[in-house]
Amino acid sequence: MKTFILFGASGDLARQKLYAALFELYAEESDFRRIGFARTEMTNAEFREIVKESVEAYVAKPDSKKLEKFLQTWEYVSGSYDSNGIAQLAQCCIVGEVFYYLSIPSGLELIQGVVNGLAKNNLINDGSSIVLEKPFGFDFGSAKKINLFVQKHFKETQIYRIDHYLAKDLVQDMLALRFANPIFEPIWNGKYIEKIDIDIKEDEGIRSRGQYYDKAGAIKDMIQNHALQLLAFSTMDKPASLSAKSIHEGKNAILKRIKLWSESAAEAISIGQYDGYKNEPYVSPDSDTETLASIKVRIDSPKWRTVPVTITSGKKMDKKTTDITIHFKKNSKNIWEGRGCEVQNNIIHINVQPDNDIRLKLNSEYDASDKCAYPTELRFGFRDNKMLLKEPYENALRDLFAHDQSIFINSKEILLSWKFIDGVLEKIKPLRKKMLKKY
Ligand code: BG6
Repeated sequence: MKTFILFGASGDLARQKLYAALFELYAEESDFRRIGFARTEMTNAEFREIVKESVEAYVAKPDSKKLEKFLQTWEYVSGSYDSNGIAQLAQCCIVGEVFYYLSIPSGLELIQGVVNGLAKNNLINDGSSIVLEKPFGFDFGSAKKINLFVQKHFKETQIYRIDHYLAKDLVQDMLALRFANPIFEPIWNGKYIEKIDIDIKEDEGIRSRGQYYDKAGAIKDMIQNHALQLLAFSTMDKPASLSAKSIHEGKNAILKRIKLWSESAAEAISIGQYDGYKNEPYVSPDSDTETLASIKVRIDSPKWRTVPVTITSGKKMDKKTTDITIHFKKNSKNIWEGRGCEVQNNIIHINVQPDNDIRLKLNSEYDASDKCAYPTELRFGFRDNKMLLKEPYENALRDLFAHDQSIFINSKEILLSWKFIDGVLEKIKPLRKKMLKKY
């Protein structure tokens, strides 16, 4: 029997994502003991009510019998996030394969409290795995400390750092698109690609997360992790295999070569703040935190050096959408020139959300009257049937239970991303007020 222990069992992430994902996986993972752990005192029955409400809110029409059975697999333990609190868990006779999921406010102190508590109560052994949520540190230094501390107690192969963007279906589909179709591989480089855009836009503001967000901003909240991961995933070389090791090596090779497109911060970076941000709860009235950022980078390798990659992420934009757009160069020898018609670039457009599709723009129409080439679009709506679309947390948890780390992030990736982001933030520090545009 396996055991899943969720720290932060009454928190938002658990309620909005994890219970629903665990319920969806229940058929595959029924032989599981599940324990929720949090500070609030509650009976098993009260806690199961929370799980039930979450599943009913976030799963479309859950089967009531299945839900009842699922609820019976949950127990609840309350305690503080330290060795005294975790001593309560030790009394639950946990044996065998155990997954500790830390869905708690991040930061070294709380992680230390839980991990030291587990260690002191002899709850860590070769069969244990630990899952850590973002933000993984607030800069290079703090991320390094967290890595070193967790690695004292768990081997790297037992540590699962989640970036839920990597677990989105359309991001995973890129592995197939790029590496199962030999027609794309030879042209996936600066000889054929003109530029790449990665856009993560959200229509909502920061909701009630001002306390965290005002210290973080768009660059730390979205670009350091999700956007850089999308960039690394879209440009990494073909991995030697689909193993976690090969995929991590592929992404690492990109992350260590990311540089700003131009030395001048003002040319390579732009930042903005949405109207009304300063009135959000817990936000400082004179805050200069960015809620929108756009960074133009290059990957400093022979294959990519000439290709500008623009990463943009913002809150309160016109709509919620995540897109990766690969713009190919035009024909070097343009036989259509002088006909008064412009042949357009080929484009591969991956809509990670909300349309969940891949579009390929080709010039495939030849008009006999004006003798011009016109574009058409091939659309691959792999996930048009929403029932086939998996929630990222479901994908991540399935891989966790199979001990497959390929869609999780390793310690080096975290440090390389922070190293780049620390440099960016250092550059804009003296110019921040001037650079920040209202939108
Ligand atoms: C989180 C950020 O990591 O991702 C949030 O902290 C953001 O600020 C969220 O809203 C977006 O995730 P998704 O899956 O809804 O696009």
